Amino acid sequence: MNQNTDLTDPTTYYYDADYPSETLGKFPENFDSTTSFQGIARDVPRYLELAREHGGPILEVCCGTGRVLIPLARAGFEVTGVDISDGFLTQLRQKLEAEAPETSGRVKAVRQNATELSLETRDFASAIFAFNSLLCIPDFEAQRAALRRVAGHLRPGGLLILDLVNPLGLKLAGDGVAKPFYTRKNPHNGNTFTRFSMCDALDEGQRQRLHGWYDEVDSGGRLSRRHYSMFWRPIFRFEIELMLEAAGLRIVRNEGGHQKEPYTSQSAHMLIQARKS
Ligand SMILES: C[S@@+](CC[C@H](N)C(=O)[O-])C[C@H]1O[C@@H](n2cnc3c(N)ncnc32)[C@H](O)[C@@H]1O
Repeated sequence: MNQNTDLTDPTTYYYDADYPSETLGKFPENFDSTTSFQGIARDVPRYLELAREHGGPILEVCCGTGRVLIPLARAGFEVTGVDISDGFLTQLRQKLEAEAPETSGRVKAVRQNATELSLETRDFASAIFAFNSLLCIPDFEAQRAALRRVAGHLRPGGLLILDLVNPLGLKLAGDGVAKPFYTRKNPHNGNTFTRFSMCDALDEGQRQRLHGWYDEVDSGGRLSRRHYSMFWRPIFRFEIELMLEAAGLRIVRNEGGHQKEPYTSQSAHMLIQARKS
């Protein structure tokens, strides 16, 4: 399990700058071309479209700071967001305070481990694991447990929407050298930072360590450096099919991105829709 559970962890602290929202960001310049490479430039409109097709209530598992959850609530959907991290949930609650009361009134934010998910509501119309969130539970059995738990909270016929990076496009043997990824503004203080990143080779558990550092320059020109490290566990196409089947979910669509592209081996993503039988 990744242990980035409080705001002092760099991956939590820099999250909104690393993965900016087009509509929630304090610094619009953070929403640059890199967001397409990251796979978050067009995902929120697609979730809104799917939500309009399938209705609510919606469960967002691993909701983070609300990048997806808040636009869904703004659009009128009842959304329950679950995350394991106090740091992420603190930032989500701060953002909800700035929203209209009708919007924040539609949101429940719950701290739970997805692998042990247990909520009162068990008839969600849909559940979302956005932006590689399932991969951030970097253990095969834990991923399977999370899928089983989430399926148990869907109504019969309910839909699971799962966004996974296509591992066929990843550097699975690692890249061996840290490189500058991007320079952006820190939304907590406005300072400029540069993130450097690298990845290790997949290990025997099919996990990959993503690590590097953030170099931030304050208003006096002083440089501070913070190291980050996290694991993810990429999942392959036929592996996820079997994992979903074992959780009582059947794939009804697998798109290669957020604009309904057909999935191919070259696709950056697998945007999977799976139905509870
Ligand atoms: C890549 S972020 C996605 C956040 C948000 N959904 C988005 O799209 O911006 C992954 C999130 O998964 C959460 N997470 C990781 N392991 C978890 C677990 N076992 N149970 C619940 N949340 C978890 C992290 O705290 C983090 O907020």
